[in-house]
Amino acid sequence: PLPEPFTVPLPIPPVLAPVESTADGDRYELVQQEIDAEVIPGFATRLWTYDGVFPGPTIESRRGRHTTVLHRNELPVPTVLHLHGGRTPAASDGYPTDLVLPDGWTGHAGHSMADDRAAVSNVQREYGFPLDQRAAMLWYHDHRMDFTAPAIWRGLAGLHFVRDDVEDALDLPRGDHELPLMIADRAFDEDGQLAYPAVDPSLTGEHGVTEPYLAGVLGDVVLVNGAPWPEHEVDTGLYRLRVLNGSNARHYELEAVADDGRTVPLVQIGADQGLLAAPVRHERLPIAPAERYDLLIDFGGLPVGSTVRLRNRLGSGGTADIMRFRIAREGTAAAIPETLAEDLPEWDRSEAAVVRDLAFRAGRMDDGRHGWLIDGLPFDPARTDVTARLGDVEVWRLVADVHHPVHLHLVGFRVLSRGGGAPLAHDAGLKDTISLRPGESAEIITRFDGYRGRYLFHCHNAEHEDMGMMANLEIV
Ligand code: C2O
Ligand code: CU
Repeated sequence: PLPEPFTVPLPIPPVLAPVESTADGDRYELVQQEIDAEVIPGFATRLWTYDGVFPGPTIESRRGRHTTVLHRNELPVPTVLHLHGGRTPAASDGYPTDLVLPDGWTGHAGHSMADDRAAVSNVQREYGFPLDQRAAMLWYHDHRMDFTAPAIWRGLAGLHFVRDDVEDALDLPRGDHELPLMIADRAFDEDGQLAYPAVDPSLTGEHGVTEPYLAGVLGDVVLVNGAPWPEHEVDTGLYRLRVLNGSNARHYELEAVADDGRTVPLVQIGADQGLLAAPVRHERLPIAPAERYDLLIDFGGLPVGSTVRLRNRLGSGGTADIMRFRIAREGTAAAIPETLAEDLPEWDRSEAAVVRDLAFRAGRMDDGRHGWLIDGLPFDPARTDVTARLGDVEVWRLVADVHHPVHLHLVGFRVLSRGGGAPLAHDAGLKDTISLRPGESAEIITRFDGYRGRYLFHCHNAEHEDMGMMANLEIV
């Protein structure tokens, strides 16, 4: 029942209006609800959504303006809200056992009962985000222990922009020349329903994914903003693409190709945590789950009526294509700035109070099943794995057996080295997720700024995360 590629228009998620704005903050409300949506033309697909849309509504915040979001859970399962990339006080960071239970929930709340620090709420919960951080595209998604992967797969993900004066001063493409692109693969059954090899989410002590899918769940359809292989009309001007790999497990290597086979450069101006110091030009750009790239693409010089395909060089068949731009009219030329932000943190390894080694590898879980471990251990909310002092600079030496996109909550980091050598071109800037390649080691450096409390670091292959590859980071 799948559509021909490039026949569905690219949807742009609606921007959420605040229910209240004061001098220093904005307040929003979101309802987590099940809907039937037309993802594949002619079919109604059951989704779990924020406010009835997938991706969820986009939230737009200014740096330092306090953002409050009230989430109401009308889904049939407990949920946890996390703002990925947010520098958030621990109480609002969406710890995986801080559940919001559905009305009248009588099922098991899972592991939370064993976690005496869990903060469980009924039906709704207010999350507060100070957002005193650099302009960046963050994203919000579900983070329930053992069930993050199926929840994201069913649709619980949305974008959250932080804007600031540094970004405004650059006069980058905006309005309809700035496109959010949430790329996520999915599989569908013959009735157009999402196919996920999940166990019953009401079971206690189970993981949301079964052992044969340990490596991660992949789909054969590439969705952008919830539409299969969409097409978008552009002009011959400069566009800013805010790209998120919102897939559970799929890695992509992005390449923009014109009709004549020529590669159109993707000029990177930002990473997960905001703008770079200077642009980096890529012909091809790898992107792992949860990574974001802020890109400029110049359609100038391409004939009106022609197209540019955004391809995935790691894919085959349907997964080799992502979307297509159709050059529909003449636009206004704009220059790519030569320098960008001057507020990038620079930390030197000589400042590090602690150097840690952390290994991300397959292994056996407590119950004997196969899973994914950090330093030999599966996730346990009752254990503190890393204790870091607020304000300290630390270097983490990470090593992986297979591909693991490693993500830290609370802070952004810089990549110091990869495989004992220099970082790669796409490691530039401030990151919150680093894609470790098979057998690779890498060093990252950060300062644990912000707040004290219980945070996490984990693999952002969502199935790896649900199968144990997560650890506690206590800031003291
Ligand atoms: Cu995108 Cu711990 O999350
Ligand atoms: Cu992993």
